[in-house]
Amino acid sequence: MRVTDLIHKKREGEALTHEELQFLIRGYTAGEIPDYQMSAFTMATYFRGMTDQETAWLTEEMMHSGDVVDLSRFGNRSVDKHSTGGVGDKTSLIVAPIVASLGGKMAKMSGRGLGHTGGTVDKLESIPGFQTTLSAEAFMRQVDEVGVAIIGQSGNLTPADKKLYALRDVTDTVDSIPLIASSIMSKKLAAGAKSIVLDVKVGSGAFLKTEAQARQLAEKMVSIGTSCGRNVTALLTNMDLPLGYYVGNALEVIEAVEVLKGRGCPDLKAVCVELASHLVKHCQGMPLDDARAHVLHQIESGAAFETMKKWIAAQGGDARALEDYSLLPQASHKHRVLAPHGGYIAHMDTQKIGEASAVLGAGRTVKDAPIDHAAGIVLHKKTGEKVEAGEAIATLYTNQPETAGESERMLLGSIRWSDHEEAAQKLILGVVQA
Ligand code: URA
Repeated sequence: MRVTDLIHKKREGEALTHEELQFLIRGYTAGEIPDYQMSAFTMATYFRGMTDQETAWLTEEMMHSGDVVDLSRFGNRSVDKHSTGGVGDKTSLIVAPIVASLGGKMAKMSGRGLGHTGGTVDKLESIPGFQTTLSAEAFMRQVDEVGVAIIGQSGNLTPADKKLYALRDVTDTVDSIPLIASSIMSKKLAAGAKSIVLDVKVGSGAFLKTEAQARQLAEKMVSIGTSCGRNVTALLTNMDLPLGYYVGNALEVIEAVEVLKGRGCPDLKAVCVELASHLVKHCQGMPLDDARAHVLHQIESGAAFETMKKWIAAQGGDARALEDYSLLPQASHKHRVLAPHGGYIAHMDTQKIGEASAVLGAGRTVKDAPIDHAAGIVLHKKTGEKVEAGEAIATLYTNQPETAGESERMLLGSIRWSDHEEAAQKLILGVVQA
């Protein structure tokens, strides 16, 4: 087989066979196919797309390019969750202990933040002592005993995706639906869970800006997972406004804990309850309404928060920080952003808010760069709310006071004002299942 023939075939819009995709993925992972040929192939795929069958084969090849975790000992109770990424998205910190407190086994590998989006690993590392690397034995033991372990991506899980994703990142071929679907699902399938909930974010803070694109991606991912014998549900959720009011690592831990204490932002809680309920439905084999009632009970009774404390302590974290927030990293400088005039907030460009938080030190522009866990933004007003001139819209938290001016400009620049109240936005835009 010759790589040039396969590039040509895709360039002409033809479908590749399983053997051809296997040849490309194995050759690329082994370093036998150079980046320049693989970039031509990904660009041809970007323009020509892939059939569902090709996408499934590509996923299968990437999944088997490295280790595959065996969670079969947990049967139907093994669960996983994936978010396509957003701003203020701390749902994993809330959903994992809820589901674990109901008998689910969440063995999850998460990523770090990049660009305007946050990552679960960074959020967890803001808790003093928390370890995001565990040996395979310690990881499994913790999943068994506590019901949840979340670590950084293991070294040899889907190496094909690691290489291909890095290539797509620098060749502007990330936003191709078959390439995103196979990238995400290869990782989820290799991580081994029987039931998976996918949170596909839509809007200005998401990777996919329109509901139609998000639905197409969700349908592909659900179909791939189902054909591999997994229970997969995708929720399309609104990322046209930040999720909750807190953006930034330690700040998001606080907001997540507040939800588990039965307080906190109702919108954030509503999204988490839906995500958790779909997992509980699958892993406990019960109707969705019953699962939802159990999930709400675990929050209200404090049982889910107790599970969170056990989980954090099991991974070396100081669980006292979940009761006494002064034990979390603290910013030396707080700056209030005041409304330049009165009116209603009609829209917030959520990517810009993520960027305004990153500028304060909460995010990184280069992979693996250090971040300031204390930095971030607490919004006091969000889309749809009325604001008086001079009222505080947000408070910026940073240890680099010189960044506050730029962050303030970005935050104010993200807002579109209106002189009248607009209809409230829906949070959950759709559910896709087999
Ligand atoms: N997230 C992934 O894991 N892969 C993609 O291709 C895009 C987002």
